[in-house]
Amino acid sequence: MNIAVRYYSQFGRTRAIAEEMADELGVVAKSVVDEPTLKEHVDVLFLGGAPYLSIMDAALEEYVNGLTSQMVGCVVLFTTSNWSHRTAIGMRVKLEERGIRVAPGHFYAHMAAIGQSKPAARAYAREALEKATKIAEAAEHELKDDKGSRMKELAVEVASVAAVAVVVVAGVAVARRLLKLRS
Ligand SMILES: Cc1cc2nc3c(=O)[nH]c(=O)nc-3n(C[C@H](O)[C@H](O)[C@H](O)COP(=O)(O)O)c2cc1C
Repeated sequence: MNIAVRYYSQFGRTRAIAEEMADELGVVAKSVVDEPTLKEHVDVLFLGGAPYLSIMDAALEEYVNGLTSQMVGCVVLFTTSNWSHRTAIGMRVKLEERGIRVAPGHFYAHMAAIGQSKPAARAYAREALEKATKIAEAAEHELKDDKGSRMKELAVEVASVAAVAVVVVAGVAVARRLLKLRS
């Protein structure tokens, strides 16, 4: 199980939540500015950000747009702000529209209550990991089933082509024989 925690944070609040979650999960939280792409496949990716004048920062948007369903099994979202949840909602829309699985809901901490939100962030990380793992595993099985049925289809196609080839070759051999017998 490969878990990663990534965040964008200008003033350190989202980073504090990310670090709390990462500590609970036994990994190191990294900023999307310091590491702008995932280096390997991640089963569950915790991804956080905040709104600045109602929009997510361009670095976070770029990071979200660079993710693919091959790179990530399931994403868990978190956000901090004064009132708005739109960064989490915006990330969900961008991820889901490209077929990336996102765990239901997101963790929210008010900007003035980061310290008090830390125990809740830890509890959320544990619970969300369990849910997201199930989603990621189901996605993995779907992918395997899909590959399996495509392999079966391919095998049937190859067998059909081979059968036709055998019939053609046999037909040609019989025709040659007949022609020889006549002459
Ligand atoms: C320039 C600026 C614009 C902000 N705009 C919003 C906003 O539109 N909606 C909101 O709920 N919070 C807004 N906030 C509050 C931040 O989202 C909040 O402080 C957040 O926790 C910052 O996260 P960070 O410390 O990880 O950078 C704004 C803060 C700043 C400094």
